[in-house]
Amino acid sequence: MPPRRPRRPARKQAPTPHQARNYTHPEADAVMRPDVGAQGAFRKKKPPATYKYDSSLAPEMNWDGQNPAREEGEALIARILAAKSLADVQDAAQRLARISRPFLNWAGKAERLSFDVPTLPLFVHERLSTRAILESVKRRRTNTQMDAFELFGDPKHDYADQLRSYEHREGWVNRMILGDSLVVMNSLLQYEGMGGQVQMIYIDPPYGVKFGSNFQPFVRKRDVKNNDDDDMTREPEMVQAYRDTWGLGLHSYLTYLRDRLLVARDLLTESGSLFVQISDVNLHHVRELMDEVFGANNFVTVISFVKTSSLNSPDAKLNRVATNNDFIVWYARNVDELKFRQVFRNKTDLSNGVGSFDWVELPNGDRRSLTQAERSGAKALPGGRLFARADLTSQKPTTLFDLTYSGKVYNPLPRGWRTTKEGMSKLADANRLFVAKNSLRFVQYLDDFAVTPYGAFWEDTGTGSFTDEKLYAVQTGTKVVQRCIQMATDPGDLVLDPTCGSGTTAYVAEQWGRRWITVDTSRVPLSLARQRLLTATYPWYELKADDRGPAGGFHYERRQNNRGEEVGGIVPHITLKSIANDEPPAEEILVDRPEITKSIMRVAGPFAVEATIPTPVDFDNDGIEDSHAESPESYASFIDRMIEVLRRSPVIQIGGNRTVTLRNIRPPARALSLSAEATVDATASGQRPTLGEAVDEAEEKRGDRLPLSGKSVAIVFGPENGAVSDKLVFESAREANAKNYTHLYVIGFAIQANARELIDKHDMLGIAMTYINMTPDLMMGDLLKNMRSSQIFSVCGQPEIKVSEVAPSEAGAAMQYQVKLLGLDVFNPADMSVEHKRGDDVPCWMLDTDYDDLCFRATQVFFPRTGAWDNLKRALKADYDESVWDHLAGDTSTPFSAPDGRTEFKVAVKVIDERGNELLVVKSVKTA
Ligand SMILES: C[S@@+](CC[C@H](N)C(=O)[O-])C[C@H]1O[C@@H](n2cnc3c(N)ncnc32)[C@H](O)[C@@H]1O
Repeated sequence: MPPRRPRRPARKQAPTPHQARNYTHPEADAVMRPDVGAQGAFRKKKPPATYKYDSSLAPEMNWDGQNPAREEGEALIARILAAKSLADVQDAAQRLARISRPFLNWAGKAERLSFDVPTLPLFVHERLSTRAILESVKRRRTNTQMDAFELFGDPKHDYADQLRSYEHREGWVNRMILGDSLVVMNSLLQYEGMGGQVQMIYIDPPYGVKFGSNFQPFVRKRDVKNNDDDDMTREPEMVQAYRDTWGLGLHSYLTYLRDRLLVARDLLTESGSLFVQISDVNLHHVRELMDEVFGANNFVTVISFVKTSSLNSPDAKLNRVATNNDFIVWYARNVDELKFRQVFRNKTDLSNGVGSFDWVELPNGDRRSLTQAERSGAKALPGGRLFARADLTSQKPTTLFDLTYSGKVYNPLPRGWRTTKEGMSKLADANRLFVAKNSLRFVQYLDDFAVTPYGAFWEDTGTGSFTDEKLYAVQTGTKVVQRCIQMATDPGDLVLDPTCGSGTTAYVAEQWGRRWITVDTSRVPLSLARQRLLTATYPWYELKADDRGPAGGFHYERRQNNRGEEVGGIVPHITLKSIANDEPPAEEILVDRPEITKSIMRVAGPFAVEATIPTPVDFDNDGIEDSHAESPESYASFIDRMIEVLRRSPVIQIGGNRTVTLRNIRPPARALSLSAEATVDATASGQRPTLGEAVDEAEEKRGDRLPLSGKSVAIVFGPENGAVSDKLVFESAREANAKNYTHLYVIGFAIQANARELIDKHDMLGIAMTYINMTPDLMMGDLLKNMRSSQIFSVCGQPEIKVSEVAPSEAGAAMQYQVKLLGLDVFNPADMSVEHKRGDDVPCWMLDTDYDDLCFRATQVFFPRTGAWDNLKRALKADYDESVWDHLAGDTSTPFSAPDGRTEFKVAVKVIDERGNELLVVKSVKTA
C-alpha cells in the first residue's frame, strides 16, 4: 500500500440547516447608479460612443479597386520607408501583413468602419434579496428590525443622494439588467468606467438560425413554435432587436455579433476570457469573427459539449447524422496572461471504460487482469485497487544499469530506467514493480491520482430529466457554464452574461461566489431569471476568511470515504518520482470541491434589477444630442402614421362596454411633446364590468376616464421601439394642462411601471389621463403572417389591491397590515382582448411595504400556485410556519407592521404578467 497521510474521515450525517445566509463581497465596490424614481431629475447625459473596428483587418487587399485598404497600405509602406527604428519597421510591416490575410466578408462590412452606440444611464428599478424576504416574513414572529443595508446590500438613497449618482462608489451587489446588450455594455464602460474589470464573459446568443424559436413570449409556456403568430414576441424592444439582428439574415447577424464582441472585449481584464456558445451551423463564422476581434493568437480552444442525453433532435428525422452537441468558442483577452484553473473529473467516472487501468490488486494482495466482461462494464468490477502497468523506461539513457528483481536480471536497453538504483529499490519496497513477460513495469494505481483533467470534449453535460429543471426554451445546462466559470475565474471575480435568458450564468456564478452582471433585452427571460435566483438554495462553501467573502478563497481539505476513495477538494498526486525519491506526493486542488458547512443553508445574495431607459424624444435643450434609438425624423414619421391609423380606427374601448370616439384628429399647433389633438364623443352602455370584488373601485376609476363630449383632448404616442416613459407622461401632461385640454390619452405599445403609476396619480398633474394600448401587430408588420386584430386601441386596467388591518396577536402590540392582490386585467396584445385574472393566477407579484417612490424593494415575493419556494420551505421548515409558505404561493401577503412605527406609509405592489410586463400600483396607508 502507498504511504498515506493521516486522513480526515468523511463527514458525519449533516445537521438540519437552520440559518439562511448569503455571500457578500465586502472588498468589491461599484459606481452608484440612480434609482428609477429619480429619472426626471437626471441630468448627466452623455453623447453616443463611437467604436472603431481595427481598420487593418478589413477589407481585403485590393490595390486596383476603390478600397479603404489601399489608403492604409500605402500609408504603411510610407511609414516603412521613412522608419527611424527597427521597431517602427516591424510594427508597420506586421500591420501590412495583417491586411493581406484572408478574412470573412459580408454585406455591409466594408462600408462600416465604426459604429455608434447610445450612451444611456442604467436606473435601478428593484432591489431584491431572498434574505430580506425571509426576514420580513419571520419578523412577524421575532420582531427583529431589518437592516436594509445588510439585507439589500444598499443603504436607501434619498432624493438628494440621487443627484450624486455616478459620482461616488458604494458596496457591490449583483445586477440583472433589462436592455440591449450593446447599449448596456457601453453604459458599463462609459458611465461606470468598467473597462478591464470583467474576468469572464459568457455569451449565448441566438444561434442565428430561426427567429421565432429564439424568443419565448410567455413566462409559463416553454414550448415555442417557430413561425407561429401566437408564439411571436410582442415586446417592442424585442421586435427592434430582431429587426437589427436578422433584417439581412446572416449578414446582419454577423454585424450584431461583431459589434457586441468588440465592446465586450473592452470590458475584460488582461487575464480575462470570453466564451461564445454556438451550434454547428454558425460555428465557423464565430471563429472567424473572434479571430478578427481578439486576434487569432488569443484563441484558446473550441469546446464541444453534449447538450441532450439522446440523439432525438429533429435532425434524426432527416436522412443525415443526428447531433446532440453544441460548441463553446473560447478566446482570451491576452492569451499570455490568461487566468486558467484546471478542472478535473474522477477517473472512475470515465464512461469509456477503465482505459489502461485494466488490472486489479485484490484485498488479499493478489493481482490479476480484469476479465473482458469487467472491462466492458457488463460485469461489476471486483473490490480492490485498479492499476495500470506503466512503462519503467525513459528515452533519456542516463540511468543504464542491470537490475535484478525476483531472481531475474532486467535491462532497459535501448532506453534507460526512469529512476536510479536507489529509486528502483524504493519502488520494490513499495511493491510497485510488476513482472511482465520479459520486462519490468511500474504499478500505477488509479487512486495514485484519482482524477484526470477535463479536455475540450464534454460528454457529461447532456441535460435530461435527471439534471436541470428546464425553465426557458433555450436554457443552457448549468454544468457547461459552471465548468467555464471554474476554469476562467476565481471566487469573487466578476462574470458578465449579456444574453441572460433564464439566468444560468448568474445562477452558477452566484453558487460559486463569483460576482455577476446579466443582461437581456426581453422581460420574459428576466422574470424567469429573477425567480430562479430568488428561490435558489446553495451549499455554503467554507470561506478561508469570513470577513473577505469569497474573494478570500474557499477552504479545501483532503478527505477519504470508508472505501479509501478521495472525496475532498485536495487530492494527492503520487508519481513514480515521488515514491522513488521518498518525497511527499504533490497535491492538486479540485476547485469544484470546497468544504461545505452543512448547518448553513445558502441563498442568493442581494441583487438589483436595472434598465436602460431610452428617451423617445428629448424635450430638454441641454446642448447634448440625445442618445435615443429613434431620430426625431423617424419619430415624426411614426407619429404621422399613427395619427392616420387613429383616424381610421377612432373608437377606443375603455372597458365596461364603454367607448370613446375621437373626431377631428390632427397634429396640434406648436406642440412640444403632444402628438395630436381631437374632440370626443363618449358613450356608455351602462353595463357593469365583471371584475369580482374589485368592481366598485374599478368602476369609480373608470368613471373619471370618460371625458366630456365635445371637448378637446390631447394625445401623445409612445416610441415605436420601446415603452412609454414617465418623463414622456410628465412632459405631455404639463403641456396638455397648460393648453387647457380636458383629457390626455397616452398611447403606446408598452408602458414602464412608473409611467403607469404617474398616469394613475393624474390628480397630481392636474389633468385626467388614460393609458391606451395599441396592438403591437402594427409594428410587427411583415413578421406576422396575418394581422388579425380587429381592435387596434384599447384600455388595460391596473392591478386591484386591498390593504386591510390585522389585529395583533399579542395585547398591546401595534396594528398589522396585510395586502391582497384581488386581480388584474391582462391585456393580450395578439388579439387586443382583455382577460381578468385572479390574484392567485399571475406568475409573480411582489410587495414593498415601505415604498419610497424611488426604487422598489421587495419585502415579500409571491409565486402563486407554484412550488417555487419549495426548496427553501424544505430546508427551513424548522424556522418558518407552514402559513408563511402558503402566503408566498398565494394572493395575500403575510401581515406586516407599519415601517418604523410610522403613522403614514406607502405600499407598492408590482405584478409581473404572463408576458413579463410589470404593473405597479401604489397605495398610501394611514394608521388609525
Ligand atoms: C439563447 S438565449 C440564452 C439562454 C441562456 N443561456 C439560458 O441558459 O437560459 C439568448 C438570450 O439573448 C437575449 N438577446 C437576444 N438579443 C439580445 C440583445 N441584443 N441584447 C440582450 N439580450 C439579447 C434573448 O432575449 C435570449 O433570452
